[in-house]
Amino acid sequence: MALASIGVCYYPEHWPREVWAEQAKTMRSGGIELVRIAEFAWSRIEPSPGHFDWEWLDSAIDTLAAENLQIIMCTPTACPPLWLVERYPEILPVDSKDHVRRFGSRRHYRFASSVYRAESTRISQAVIDRYATHPAIVGWQLDNEYGCHETTLSYAEDDERAFQRWLEARHADIDALNKAWGTVFWSQEYRSFAEVGRPNLTVTEVNPAHRLDYWRFASDQVRDFNAEQRQILRDSQGSDRWVTHNFMGNFVEFDHFTVGEDLDVASWDSYPLGFLDQGWFSNDEKLRYRRIGHPDWAAFHHDLYRAVGRGRFAVMEQQPGPVNWAESNAQPLDSAPAFWGMEAVAHGAEFVSYFRYQQLPRAQEQMHAALRLPTGEAAPAWASVSQLAGELESLPAFGSTQAPIALLFDYPSCWASTIQPHAPGMHQLESTFQYYSAARALGLDIDIVDAKSNLQDYKLLIIPGTVIVDATFIARAKAARVNCLIGARSGSRDEHCALPTALAPGPIQTIIPLRVVAVDSMRRGAVRPFAYAGHTFEASRWHESVESTIEPRIRCDDGAGLWYSAGNNHYINAHVPSEFLTLVIQEILSAAEAPYKPLQEGLRVRRRGPLTFAFNFSADTRRFEAKDARCILGSLDLAQGDYSIWQQAND
Ligand code: GAL
Repeated sequence: MALASIGVCYYPEHWPREVWAEQAKTMRSGGIELVRIAEFAWSRIEPSPGHFDWEWLDSAIDTLAAENLQIIMCTPTACPPLWLVERYPEILPVDSKDHVRRFGSRRHYRFASSVYRAESTRISQAVIDRYATHPAIVGWQLDNEYGCHETTLSYAEDDERAFQRWLEARHADIDALNKAWGTVFWSQEYRSFAEVGRPNLTVTEVNPAHRLDYWRFASDQVRDFNAEQRQILRDSQGSDRWVTHNFMGNFVEFDHFTVGEDLDVASWDSYPLGFLDQGWFSNDEKLRYRRIGHPDWAAFHHDLYRAVGRGRFAVMEQQPGPVNWAESNAQPLDSAPAFWGMEAVAHGAEFVSYFRYQQLPRAQEQMHAALRLPTGEAAPAWASVSQLAGELESLPAFGSTQAPIALLFDYPSCWASTIQPHAPGMHQLESTFQYYSAARALGLDIDIVDAKSNLQDYKLLIIPGTVIVDATFIARAKAARVNCLIGARSGSRDEHCALPTALAPGPIQTIIPLRVVAVDSMRRGAVRPFAYAGHTFEASRWHESVESTIEPRIRCDDGAGLWYSAGNNHYINAHVPSEFLTLVIQEILSAAEAPYKPLQEGLRVRRRGPLTFAFNFSADTRRFEAKDARCILGSLDLAQGDYSIWQQAND
């Protein structure tokens, strides 16, 4: 068995039947083993209400199976057909400006619509009944990219009624809601749940607790939608096949951990260049990594989705060439498709599937590259992907190694930081990524954890400015006696988005005696310089005034505290550069006698069993210093976009 397999996203309905056999043959010749199909094919499967056309899909599946290709079959609920929308216009989502979002692209449905839930169950049941036991089908993908195009939150009247029912189940009674939300402020008090509206179109900002509960409600709708779909497969004769959903990059609009509980494998769609262009990175980083992606962006998501999948994850869509949806859409380095695939495998991906097999010369994605040109000839990515398939073939299957670092990720904290950012650039996702990046620069593997995860085996737990922190999580961290590094803003709100009674950092005060009495939210350009280990740095965006019996370990030049330590717990009360965080982590690990190895800019490593996978994202050719390394693939000298795998003599 190979370490992982290569897949492709394929749309037989886009191509004349005469070319299917040739396409399948070509896939196989390039080392492709898995093919994902049918996630947008509802209008072809059910051209009119209740009339199914299975013939073309049967034939497409048979054509792929004849080449020994394995199939990931999809439920087609991401694209309700026009006849369904005409019949049930109430399924359409409504945006925060109260505009109904129309038919004509995709994802035009509301998760809370009971009509759409019933229709989704009906179509998925039909597809599953037809193919559940087909021998070529190895797994299922439910829907496609839940929440994409801002479709998690919808503001229809019917959503409001569902929200009221949800509130009734969450709060003991309306007085409890009034108290938890603090509705006495601005005379917002409610007399019954039926009076609570949806939080849009108000004169000025809505109560943050109201918005946070609405977000939780919306997230629960995604969870429930997925759970209902999953149940159909559980009850089917093909219940031995694995089930996944393809999540996205930089996307936190619903709680993926709760959706993941109903999946066997979490998969995600990795577009490193599109998201580099669109993301929060500096212009310098965007230029430096323009053709290979940021060194930590894909890795961060691999580790996140491995956590969502409780150890099992895959890449369902991997960027093969320029995408069509960022402001600028760079041409990746020739080696990038294989580089990204191997990186996913290093992090434990079970398969890497490229989006898409062949570029379609019409419709919305005509400028989106694929593995094959619109003519059917090989596109630039083809050689790289075939090479990767060959390399994977020769690698033995290895398990994983225990990561030394656990990094907390919390979706409600992302919502809270969006609802009240309070300072420029203080979004939870970005802060979490920053700590991740800082630790990876020391050559460390990282497990992303949620509040329920086991914390026993880690050398360091990072709480990266997590806004809402569960008291029992902190109690478990304390019991595990794990070193903790805690970032500014951690524990600054309770579950109702209110300040904790004992002030920030709330429950974290049980492991480090300090409290935050003021926050200096800093406009871009405002800084507080400080010095550490012979370097000068600048705190920016956010700095907290802390009261504590502890003397700060370091202070800003203006005398304000910055790093507080008590026993094995450390608190940094400002937004600080990654380079400084790397030094902090280094210091904590040194004290704990835990190994680490600072890497040059752009170099990254990941261990899997006895193997070390190494990647060079830097524009400069770099050499890895690895004593007694026996290279299994590549060498220790790597140009940008090169990777290698080695085993060390003492492993
Ligand atoms: C994903 C989506 C695919 C395709 C791709 C283009 O978000 O799942 O269907 O649109 O992006 O990059």
